[in-house]
Amino acid sequence: IRDDAETASSYVANYIIDRIRHFNPTPSHPFVLGLPTGSSPLGVYRILVEKYKAGLDEYVGIDRDHPESYHSFMWKNFFSHVNVNPNNVHILNGNAPNLEAECVEYENKIKRAGGIDLFLGGIGEDGHIAFNEPGSSLASRTRVKTLAYDTILANSRFFDNDVDKVPRMALTVGVQTILEAREVVIIILGARKSLALQKCIEQGVNHMWTLSSLQLHPHPMIVCDEDATLEL
Ligand code: GLP
Repeated sequence: IRDDAETASSYVANYIIDRIRHFNPTPSHPFVLGLPTGSSPLGVYRILVEKYKAGLDEYVGIDRDHPESYHSFMWKNFFSHVNVNPNNVHILNGNAPNLEAECVEYENKIKRAGGIDLFLGGIGEDGHIAFNEPGSSLASRTRVKTLAYDTILANSRFFDNDVDKVPRMALTVGVQTILEAREVVIIILGARKSLALQKCIEQGVNHMWTLSSLQLHPHPMIVCDEDATLEL
């Protein structure tokens, strides 16, 4: 628990840097990061970008160049500011002609890269990780998911506050995909996430609050600000 969003974000950014520095990459297994969109990781990306100046999910049916696609988000907020090789960036294509094949291929890409070393995530107010909405199987893998109405409502702030403009479906890595990452770091900021944090860590493993699956992971870490601890 850190005092505020800034110190929590800086903790996570420094943690990631430290992990990468202590990793011995090989050509067949570079350090593989799983990275989220959303407001929660923005501070982390800003701090990583400052220090280096020196996908996980995607909506179905919106163009990759749409300003709110996760592709645009990740390039705008992170990748275009660091010296990233585009060949090393893999974001699910929500407009793929065959969505199921796209999901299978994404899982294969993760496997070919040697698995995810560090998965960074945020959570929704209903405790979802990536787009693993309440009721998701804890054994789920990358797939098409219908969004919960609460998520559509929460994300309408990015679509002119118009719920009708928010896609109804998304592609997302599964709970099991996340649990197979060697390390999972979740950043949770603000009082509106406090109920989810409480349900996920003080109650049992439950597919209605998918973050609670982290209780099954050997190497998880939740970094939150003081406000998020309101219900603990
Ligand atoms: C979306 C994303 C999640 C993210 C969540 C919370 O639903 N699919 O990966 O964690 O939003 O977003 P925010 O951090 O803006 O509250």
